[in-house]
Amino acid sequence: MKKITIAIDGFSSCGKSTMAKDLAREIGYIYIDSGAMYRAVTLYCIQNHLIDGEHIDVDQLKQHINDIQISFQLNASTGKPDTYLNGVNVENEIRTMEVSSKVSLVSAIDFVRTAMVAEQQKMGRKKGIVMDGRDIGTTVFPDAELKIFVTASPEIRAQRRFDELEQKGVKANYDEILENVKQRDYLDQNRAVSPLKKADDALLLDNSHLTIGEQKEWLLHQFHKAITC
Ligand code: DC
Repeated sequence: MKKITIAIDGFSSCGKSTMAKDLAREIGYIYIDSGAMYRAVTLYCIQNHLIDGEHIDVDQLKQHINDIQISFQLNASTGKPDTYLNGVNVENEIRTMEVSSKVSLVSAIDFVRTAMVAEQQKMGRKKGIVMDGRDIGTTVFPDAELKIFVTASPEIRAQRRFDELEQKGVKANYDEILENVKQRDYLDQNRAVSPLKKADDALLLDNSHLTIGEQKEWLLHQFHKAITC
């Protein structure tokens, strides 16, 4: 059966990565979390003292950008891919608040994007890949056979994050989360390089009122349509 490229883009906290991971497992494709790559570059900057508050030592980062090797390896116990930075498993470190709060700055730098996009394109050369991010259908794989743009209302995304935190026993404030969701939407859509934008040929998936099961059924239907075209 022919293998295709699947690009899943969209707003933060839409459940993109869970959806992409799940779809990849179901259809036997490789899953790549492109956001994890920007997070790994951010961690490299922190570890090498290239970030001070909001200031990034762009000249130093540019000199070392080719020293940053990012790869993914399946973790047998979780069944999910872990992110490696220069051979070291950094899956947990890249999810910290420290990295989350700096990653928008790093992912807005043009030469960082050029380097990551080149790596992502290399990873997808053989097709049979599901990649999620912000610019996959527009910049990384503009020829992807299946492009999905995921959205949900800011209020629903904030509520989902609030519930997630509460479940983990973390005290959360809904209004603060909603503000953060709206701010990230703004930053993602308005940055100069590769802003978040629906590709003209992407299918819009608003999952505000869909169950996980309904969403999965929709995705599999689109996948089967795409591979038989
Ligand atoms: O999906 P995420 O929250 O882990 O992404 C982390 C950051 O990286 C987020 O600020 C958006 C950015 N990103 C990007 O600019 N382009 C991508 N293809 C993926 C993520």
